[in-house]
Amino acid sequence: MGKLIMVSNRLPVTIEADGSARRTTGGLASALEGADLPGEQIWVGWPGGAAEDFEDLEKVRAELLESGVAPVFLSQDDLDGFYEGYANSTLWPLLHYMVERARFSADWWLAYQRVNRKFADVIAEVADENDQIWIHDYHLFLLPAMLRRRKKGLRIGFFLHTPFCSSEIFRVLPERAEILKGLLGADVIGFHTYSYLRHFRSSLLRVLGWESEMEGIWHDGREVHMGVYPIGHNHAGFDEVMRQPGFPEIVESHLQDLAGKRMILNVERLDYTKGLPQKLAAMRRFLERNPDKRDDVLFVLIAVPSRLGVQEYDSLTEEVQREVGAINGEFGKVGHAPVQFLHRGFPLADLAAFYALAEVCLVTPLRDGMNLVAKEFLDCQRPEFSSRPGVLVLSEFAGAANELSHAIQVNPHDVDEVATALNRALEMPDAERRNRIGMMQGRLRKQDSGAWTRRFLKDLDQVPPTDERAVIMDLKSLAGQIAGQAHAGRKIGLFLDYDGTLRDFVDEPDLAVPDVELPALLRDLAAFPGLSVAVVSGRAPAFLEQHLGGLGVTLVGEHGYRWLDGGEGEWTLFNPHVNIEWKPAIREHLEQASLLTPGTHVEEKQSALVWHYRKADPEFGSWRARGLLDELTSMAANLPVTVHHGKKIVEISSLQVSKGAAVDYLLQAWECETALVAGDDQTDETMIMLTPENIEFHAVRVGGGPTRAAYRTDIQGMRRFLDELRAGLRSNKPNS
Ligand code: UDP
Ligand code: G6P
Repeated sequence: MGKLIMVSNRLPVTIEADGSARRTTGGLASALEGADLPGEQIWVGWPGGAAEDFEDLEKVRAELLESGVAPVFLSQDDLDGFYEGYANSTLWPLLHYMVERARFSADWWLAYQRVNRKFADVIAEVADENDQIWIHDYHLFLLPAMLRRRKKGLRIGFFLHTPFCSSEIFRVLPERAEILKGLLGADVIGFHTYSYLRHFRSSLLRVLGWESEMEGIWHDGREVHMGVYPIGHNHAGFDEVMRQPGFPEIVESHLQDLAGKRMILNVERLDYTKGLPQKLAAMRRFLERNPDKRDDVLFVLIAVPSRLGVQEYDSLTEEVQREVGAINGEFGKVGHAPVQFLHRGFPLADLAAFYALAEVCLVTPLRDGMNLVAKEFLDCQRPEFSSRPGVLVLSEFAGAANELSHAIQVNPHDVDEVATALNRALEMPDAERRNRIGMMQGRLRKQDSGAWTRRFLKDLDQVPPTDERAVIMDLKSLAGQIAGQAHAGRKIGLFLDYDGTLRDFVDEPDLAVPDVELPALLRDLAAFPGLSVAVVSGRAPAFLEQHLGGLGVTLVGEHGYRWLDGGEGEWTLFNPHVNIEWKPAIREHLEQASLLTPGTHVEEKQSALVWHYRKADPEFGSWRARGLLDELTSMAANLPVTVHHGKKIVEISSLQVSKGAAVDYLLQAWECETALVAGDDQTDETMIMLTPENIEFHAVRVGGGPTRAAYRTDIQGMRRFLDELRAGLRSNKPNS
């Protein structure tokens, strides 16, 4: 087992220009602080600041390397275009549904690509084969694919700490396709919630047109696993500071400062996604409506400065300061200002003391990937430090809302609702408070950042090592083996599906013609003595003959209804007695579905009818297809047909016709001693499932989905296999 390389733009510590280190603020850094990572590790990340500002870069690098950190230094230009620009002024607002704040610039995109490459360079230097690489967050979306191209044998995980927005928002991004493809370089992609995963999948579908399963997608010859891993907080870290002998004193000193006031606590990075202006509006409404509580409560707003230099953040600070002043001016009195704005970060022990003493914790982001403050607050609620349990008021737009159902959940945009919730929290009887905390506390202490790390790494660990994953390598040796047999005079049959096996799908099936090299490749293979090739397709004869006729390759059309021996002459029926009387009734049904679903049409074949929905809205088309499938399956109960849901098609074909039956016939007719079948969908499984006696039989599934085939590859892998086979046939000395 190799080492673990953790990669994040922001390291858990930030190095100042004078070389001193300070703890980083933010969910990613604080969760990873308590992550309890196994085995040998290296961190790769930006240490903070501009490279130009460090007096002796090499010295800092050497020192960091000593402590297991491989730094990625960023120039001021990188910081402008990558960090402040593309990452934090384009991606961050979009991922948080704030399209109107997102700004776009071609220069920023260039900087984003450049910095992702810098990360790949540093990782390539420190990584060895079979290391695990765990990449974090939206700054590094391109890194998984870059790294995969740079270095073989790595297991690459990616976790997104922000929401993944709806595909309707995501597709606004000019570089949406590149970003998705960059991410798919990973072996495991993790999200905080099920909805983020769902949005990611629908972006794959709407932006790239790629269907995926809940668990993942087959891409570029690999299975990319997708999963939901809600991050936990650093329970061990908080527990440790709260158990220290000095902690009660810290609590006592904050208690003194409170001077008997009931604390309503807010802790966040000062970020527009956290909704501080909306929160201030709710506080104002609360104070207006509850004059009797004005002197009792103290709003403590801890807002840690963040991303200073990004325009949106600078103006937010001014807006908040103005409004805090206005509220205090209006509702304060001599000796008491109801809102305390603390614009700085606090050490963990102080934070824990604030959490322990708060009567209400107001966590109301407009959007938040998870929000760890909510979890930390609940964890720090302990009877030994405060006799009154606290209440969590939580935004329904925080990822944490999925797990913390016993909080008072609110819509942060609804000022009235938040003000009412504040009052409800303050009035809530102790028994109910205790009960609610108890329901949430146990679970979140167990599901802490350590448990989160273990779950993610366990899935990453299950990615097979490269040599086991490399189906393409297996195909290579198989090609050598078959070439060897052909040289030795064995009779060999190759049975290849066309769409999805030899050729990619496109929107218009008629345009999916063979590329220039394919006919020559098939002709060369079929020309070898004793080796027969058949293209076994669902397509109608005319298309097959036009594009693959005359090559010496046998063509099997309409899923095995008819065939053209050697690719020329007359088409023959495999079975002249096939019953097709069922067609008119089914045709009418399919035509009705087409009328109701724009972008779909019915294709008529001799022994089959096909409803195509590739050009329909992808979700509407899939939904209609599922309905159609149910209806047809019940209609088909008494008919001699099978119903099949293929790639953007629903096909009804005669039960007496199948690719498998056609191949079975040809295997005998050609007296094959060795055969290979390859296909990508359910109709091809009828060939893949054959178990011919006394024939060495190899089956290959191209792409994802359940299969009985022993080999799996993708279209490119299939093509490499055929190329290898041709090379083997041409060479005088075959590999085996
Ligand atoms: N935090 C901190 N010091 C402070 C205030 C907050 O270290 O003075 C930490 C806090 O403990 C929490 C993190 O900042 O772990 C904020 O994480 P969250 O997930 O709530 O939001 P993010 O900053 O990731 O958007
Ligand atoms: C969020 C992001 C992190 C980021 C943190 C602090 O938690 O998900 O990736 O590190 O905010 O932001 P900063 O820009 O200071 O790294």
